[in-house]
Amino acid sequence: MKVLVIGQGGREHAIACQLAQSPSVSKIFVAPGNAGMGSIAELVPIKENQMTDLLNFAQENKVDLTIVGPEVPLTDGIVDHFQQAGLRVYGPTKAAAMIEGSKSFAKHLMKKYDIPTAEYEVFDNKEGALAYVAERKTPIVIKADGLAAGKGVVVAQTSQEANDAIEAMMGEGKFGIAGHQVVIEEYLQGEELSLMAFVDGHVVVPMVPAQDHKPVYDGNQGPNTGGMGAYSPVPQFNRQRVNEAVENILKPTAEALVQEGRPFTGILYAGLMMTPQGPKVIEFNARFGDPETQVVLPRLETDLMEIINASLDHRLDDIKVNWSDDAVVTVILASEGYPGSYPKGRKIHGIDEDHHEEGIRIFHAGTAQTEDGLVTSGGRVLAVTAKVQSIAAARQMSYEAVQKIHFEGMHYRQDIGAKAIGRL
Ligand code: AMP
Ligand code: GLY
Repeated sequence: MKVLVIGQGGREHAIACQLAQSPSVSKIFVAPGNAGMGSIAELVPIKENQMTDLLNFAQENKVDLTIVGPEVPLTDGIVDHFQQAGLRVYGPTKAAAMIEGSKSFAKHLMKKYDIPTAEYEVFDNKEGALAYVAERKTPIVIKADGLAAGKGVVVAQTSQEANDAIEAMMGEGKFGIAGHQVVIEEYLQGEELSLMAFVDGHVVVPMVPAQDHKPVYDGNQGPNTGGMGAYSPVPQFNRQRVNEAVENILKPTAEALVQEGRPFTGILYAGLMMTPQGPKVIEFNARFGDPETQVVLPRLETDLMEIINASLDHRLDDIKVNWSDDAVVTVILASEGYPGSYPKGRKIHGIDEDHHEEGIRIFHAGTAQTEDGLVTSGGRVLAVTAKVQSIAAARQMSYEAVQKIHFEGMHYRQDIGAKAIGRL
């Protein structure tokens, strides 16, 4: 099969690597892709939001299957668009992807179907939001309703911080239309867990769990990012606690979407807070997580193409999905200034030597190949990933590999995976 992967991040690099191992895949295109994927895929210079151009490309090149990585094309309805043209495409429809595209939609759905989540209210005017904060305890969480690349959430420690966040989103339009409506919710205490599943309608096949590190600095300090690193497995939570999340959250959510006439096919991602009262939903995503994918897919032993094809043929239930017991840790190397604005075009040194090291894989995110060599082209630049028997060893290996890489202004967290080995 000829496969087209849409997207350009570390997640898409990890997806493409997995597809490259599949005996049923003869050719991989990635649009637009990045410099790291050139050896396994043909890069197609079409951006992920150029729906018509992507569709034309898939038709002209007789692509057999398209896999959509990022949320923006999904919530824009790319899957519906491809389906209407009779093309085979993997991901949720626009109606189903709304579980990520609108936080208020997701919250209302959870309330209606009794899916555990933080208490909340939705506001579309600033005065109402400010008045609500005045009568609630802190910390309190302010979320832009729409998509904001993981940056539209403020965990406010004081009412002043909450008011500032509301002012930025609703007054100054910091996230554009995504922030015209806000969800204000109860602060949940506990440890976070990312749990993804292959879903087709009622059928839910969970993946192994992972833990992300969203804030930019060590010890979870500083503003939120798209994710600064991840690891899997997450030994803090035994099989029973993960099962609880599958039974009480993922399965009822897939069922709720069917009931609402929005059946979901694709990757459903639950961002969970593991509270003393059990797992509660922080957010849903309608796609693979980034950087969770970089630590989960390397553990997948079953052919990813087989799973996707089974989903699209509505026989996901028949597939046995196997996972390696190995541990995977990924450390994100970010550009100076990220998650704020950042420079591009900084030369990246030290990549080549690492590429073939046993157990190490460097997934590219924001990289570009120029006459000058490999340069930075995004906020998250590389995901330095190690796979080995234990988290402690994977952590050590990935940080050793990080030491060999350099670009001006490069920064990363030192504590990825530390929690899993009792260092925090
Ligand atoms: P989100 O984009 O909704 O996943 O939120 C980003 C991050 O903000 C999460 O990973 C949590 O660390 C934090 N967060 C979001 N909602 C809550 C909540 N209700 N209670 C505590 N922390 C939260
Ligand atoms: N790592 C969080 C996300 O993909 O949204």
